[in-house]
Amino acid sequence: MIDPMSIESMSPRKVMVFGVTGFIGRGLPRLLADQGCEVTGVSRGPGGGIHGVSAWQSAGSSDPCGHHAVVNLAGEPIDSRWTAARCHRFHESRVGMTRRLVATMAALPVESRPAVLVNASAVGIYGDRGDERLDEHSVPGSGYLADLCHEWEKAAMDAAALGVRVVCLRIGIVLGRDGSAFRKLLTVFRCGIGGRLGSGRQWMPWIHVDDLRAAIMHAVMSPSLKGPVNGTAPSPVRNSEFTRSFARAVHRPALIPVPGFALKLTLGGFGGVLLAGQRALPQALQADGFRFRFPTLDTALADLLATPEMGSGCKS
Ligand SMILES: NC(=O)c1ccc[n+]([C@@H]2O[C@H](COP(=O)([O-])OP(=O)(O)OC[C@H]3O[C@@H](n4cnc5c(N)ncnc54)[C@H](OP(=O)(O)O)[C@@H]3O)[C@@H](O)[C@H]2O)c1
Repeated sequence: MIDPMSIESMSPRKVMVFGVTGFIGRGLPRLLADQGCEVTGVSRGPGGGIHGVSAWQSAGSSDPCGHHAVVNLAGEPIDSRWTAARCHRFHESRVGMTRRLVATMAALPVESRPAVLVNASAVGIYGDRGDERLDEHSVPGSGYLADLCHEWEKAAMDAAALGVRVVCLRIGIVLGRDGSAFRKLLTVFRCGIGGRLGSGRQWMPWIHVDDLRAAIMHAVMSPSLKGPVNGTAPSPVRNSEFTRSFARAVHRPALIPVPGFALKLTLGGFGGVLLAGQRALPQALQADGFRFRFPTLDTALADLLATPEMGSGCKS
């Protein structure tokens, strides 16, 4: 686990967070502030309203000068039809944004540069890999998302040449009460119309949002962690098992499978993402001493469905 003293040696204790208004990002400033950090939020909007953020910068003119760490979680959401215009925004908000960030770091005097960059990436970098066990030594896969993530990580890793410790967090499917994936699943399963996607044999590398935020904190503070790091729980499941567990957790049947062709027809490229599997394992995090609070899907779902609002009723 994180050495509690390591944060004490940070000088200065300032952390800049891009994507701080998003699902994953908005819970981070409070955790950082609890550790004594000053948090600068970066947004395209006016900012404000996020507990733990003490200063705001505009995404168009952000300057990491004097910050110890930068966490970059910016990215246009990909869970919609992939039109050419959207694909441009997927690329620009990830690769373009990261390149600009690293170029800004390069222009700073060495002593004012951040010591660490924790940059989002995704398990999509592995492509569709069947039953292969995927750790951080596994080679990237192929396909649109794999290529995008590969370019995104390369843009972030360029900061290593500046003396910055870079962690590329290959995030899996994040489960959290405020997350759009979890909310959509909850609505569908509560109504008894949940079902496996395609064959259901594809592996789903999920993670509880609290564990992901803790993993980001760990990545910021642990000097020994660098390079690609899988941000997934240690027990990925097949889609069919995920479906059974979710249905059991909300006490509903899951009888209606969704054929693969229907997913591709309605969601296009993103439908293909739902049918692709990655049996990703968090080897780097665990080897670095990180411990998961929610290592199994059942423990994660029990926690997420613990409130009465989450636990019952067929409502959106
Ligand atoms: N959630 C998941 O399951 C998951 C899985 C794998 C990887 N990831 C990656 O993790 C990161 C954070 O995920 P999230 O779920 O927290 O995402 P999110 O809720 O969609 O938030 C993403 C943030 O990115 C910024 N953003 C959105 N569109 C943008 C654009 N066109 N240009 C520049 N900035 C833009 C927004 O900040 P402002 O509007 O304030 O500028 C927003 O706060 C993303 O890069 C995502 O790809 C997430």
